[in-house]
Amino acid sequence: MNQMNEIDIRPMSGAVGAQVCNVDLGADLSNAQFANIRDAFIKHGLLFFRDQDITPEQHIAFAERWGEININRFFQKVDGYEKIAAVVKEPDQAVNIGGDWHTDHSYDDIPAMGSILLARETPAVGGDTLFACMYKAYEGLSDGLKKTLEGVRAVHSSRHVFGDISQYKDAVGGRLSNAEAATQDATHPVIITHPESGRKALYINPGFTIHFEGWTPEESFPLMKYLYAHASRPENTTRFQWQPGSIAFWDNRATWHYALNDYHGARREMHRITIEGSPLN
Ligand code: SIN
Repeated sequence: MNQMNEIDIRPMSGAVGAQVCNVDLGADLSNAQFANIRDAFIKHGLLFFRDQDITPEQHIAFAERWGEININRFFQKVDGYEKIAAVVKEPDQAVNIGGDWHTDHSYDDIPAMGSILLARETPAVGGDTLFACMYKAYEGLSDGLKKTLEGVRAVHSSRHVFGDISQYKDAVGGRLSNAEAATQDATHPVIITHPESGRKALYINPGFTIHFEGWTPEESFPLMKYLYAHASRPENTTRFQWQPGSIAFWDNRATWHYALNDYHGARREMHRITIEGSPLN
């Protein structure tokens, strides 16, 4: 691909996500091209790339332009590449990884900035990923509820997903490990100000948030349930259909994602690199 062509950014829905065209992530990006992609990432919170026939080394090199790579302590690694997590579902496996709304690493004190997911093998049909916009989720709340949530913090945990008590971990079998490392809980504001865009976003998610700080789970659930239904309204989402070589690069501070599990009997293999973030306020 001729990198002299202007990179073309095409929004993919009214809510979230844009496709980046005319770019080869396997080639050296100039500083100007990288700045262009970075601006689009901050603006759209989610970028898609098609037909990226890149090696694992090129995947890592692209990720490292954004920051330090976070080596996920629970996921299997791609053979020979510690920095790349394997997100795989075999034809005989029933449960997929990431099959509910979540944002990566919210259980960490300093959650990951983003994840770069590259499709290596995709089912003939199915296996799409849904994304939801947490800026729109916040902006769509009433002034009264916005005010109620300002100053409220929420507790996020990995224990019920990756720890010894997790039924999901058992269902996913050998694809997750290190249950003993799932001890950490973290608290974050329910409404964050995005460190780069300066926009406010809802920052709780069904995967990892367990309750509001200082509230019991029973007190928290009804409001969390309302916020989740509100945040995942179809108008607030976009859906990405994968082919080998497709990439989605999402901002964990601005989006949720949900891997659809509708391709039983087929194989899907994705390679994910996660990039370190900064404290959330
Ligand atoms: C993930 O949750 O990181 C995986 C998403 C996907 O496989 O589509």
